Amino acid sequence: ELVRGITGIHELEEQLNRLLGIAEVKIIPGDSDDTPVVKEELGQACADQLKKILKAQNIIAVTGGTTMACAAEMMTREIGKGKQILFVPARGGVGDDVKNQANSICAKMAEQTGGSHRALYIPDQVSEKVRESLLQDPNISEVLNLIQSANIVLHGIGDAIKMATRRNTNDADMDKLLKEQAVGEAFGYYFNIEGEVVHKVSTVGLQLADLHRARHAVAVAGGKSKAKAIQSYMKSAPPNTVFITDEGAAKELFKAL
Ligand code: G3H
Repeated sequence: ELVRGITGIHELEEQLNRLLGIAEVKIIPGDSDDTPVVKEELGQACADQLKKILKAQNIIAVTGGTTMACAAEMMTREIGKGKQILFVPARGGVGDDVKNQANSICAKMAEQTGGSHRALYIPDQVSEKVRESLLQDPNISEVLNLIQSANIVLHGIGDAIKMATRRNTNDADMDKLLKEQAVGEAFGYYFNIEGEVVHKVSTVGLQLADLHRARHAVAVAGGKSKAKAIQSYMKSAPPNTVFITDEGAAKELFKAL
């Protein structure tokens, strides 16, 4: 049996959907922690979902990460055919590896689908004064407006400490995350297991409220090691969320709920 009392992936999808109280759960067989091709399949499922929800005109906010990078690889011209699509990075952070940054992923998604994209370059950790002056820049404020009017948000979910390490988080913030027992991360917000926001990267861009306003949110995260992170994020996920995951994460998550 898959997990106690549940015999098929489809049943697990339905159970998780009910327990999480979101729009839909889609589970890919396998575990992306052990099998890299499963992450590509998560990316493919994200691309398929996007195709389903696209309207004639779209503003799509996208986060960074290796999972979103896989989703970009899997997108095709077919998805964007006859549609207007503009990709914008959900947040301005540039703390990650270039290939995993939201800006690069937006550029890739635009290239793959024949859509367009805008970039937003604002370092994660700038002083309040610098940020204020960056916000005065007309180009930056235009992109911020686009982000706020996104009808679709595509995002990953990460393990809090892994993400904080990858972003070269300073010691003070790292101490805070450990002390507050952060377990999950999504678009620069860090959550404890209760789903409370315990820290937020100070960069500009998508806010949780914007996510709730967007017509569709597609969360993509797999691997058994992400189960706790997913659990923490899903406590406050908007009900319009479609969650794409793999069997490894789904089974572990189900046990914890
Ligand atoms: O915000 C979370 C990250 O986007 C997840 O990154 O897909 O590389 O695990 P990942």
